[in-house]
Amino acid sequence: MLEGKKIRLRAVERVDLPIFVKWINDLEVTEFLAINPPMSMEEEEKWFANLGKTEDKVFSVDTMDGKLIGNVGLMKFNWEDRSVLFGIMIGEKEYWNKGYGTDAIETLLRYVFEEMNMNKVYLIADEGNARALRCYEKIGFRKEGLLRQNRYKNGRYSDDVEMSMLQEEWRERSSGQRG
Ligand SMILES: CC(C)(COP(=O)(O)OP(=O)(O)OC[C@H]1O[C@@H](n2cnc3c(N)ncnc32)[C@H](O)[C@@H]1OP(=O)(O)O)[C@@H](O)C(=O)NCCC(=O)NCCS
Repeated sequence: MLEGKKIRLRAVERVDLPIFVKWINDLEVTEFLAINPPMSMEEEEKWFANLGKTEDKVFSVDTMDGKLIGNVGLMKFNWEDRSVLFGIMIGEKEYWNKGYGTDAIETLLRYVFEEMNMNKVYLIADEGNARALRCYEKIGFRKEGLLRQNRYKNGRYSDDVEMSMLQEEWRERSSGQRG
């Protein structure tokens, strides 16, 4: 279990799946995500069954008092270049804008850089996802560039922003926060 200030990251359990499906089928939650609802429990169970066969690592995000509010995932591990893609969904909307996403990402980054010794973490976000972009900037992610008309959703193409953080930047920020 990985502990932050407001949240804990833990392994995904089968009992979490109906809650994940509820979030995925909430159009407000998935507005900017590369997920196209509706999604059934059966599809989610297939995803869960396949999880162990891939290198992907997914964690459930719990508040300190044990309420499941989201998930975070690490995908596309590149062991030679030591880079990895991350994604996040805080599915319980009443927990938005209260620092839970920031804390979940900070906790994940500590694991990725300090435990896994990866060199670079990157993400892809819809350019219109202002909350997510603000959250990533606040944490210290830097913009790599714009992926033009990268996704077709809701009847239009949207641009994506790619952002990343390097291990050296993480260490610099962490020592700054400590000192
Ligand atoms: C994006 C997400 C992970 C952020 O988590 P969160 O817990 O809501 O974010 P935080 O509270 O840690 O930080 C959000 C910041 O954005 C700000 N913000 C919110 N709405 C904003 C807007 N429309 N424009 C600019 N900033 C905004 C908040 O004020 C806060 O900044 P502050 O701390 O400086 O005040 C979460 O909202 C989420 O999972 N949303 C649905 C799925 C999603 O979009 N995932 C990301 C895919 S790339």
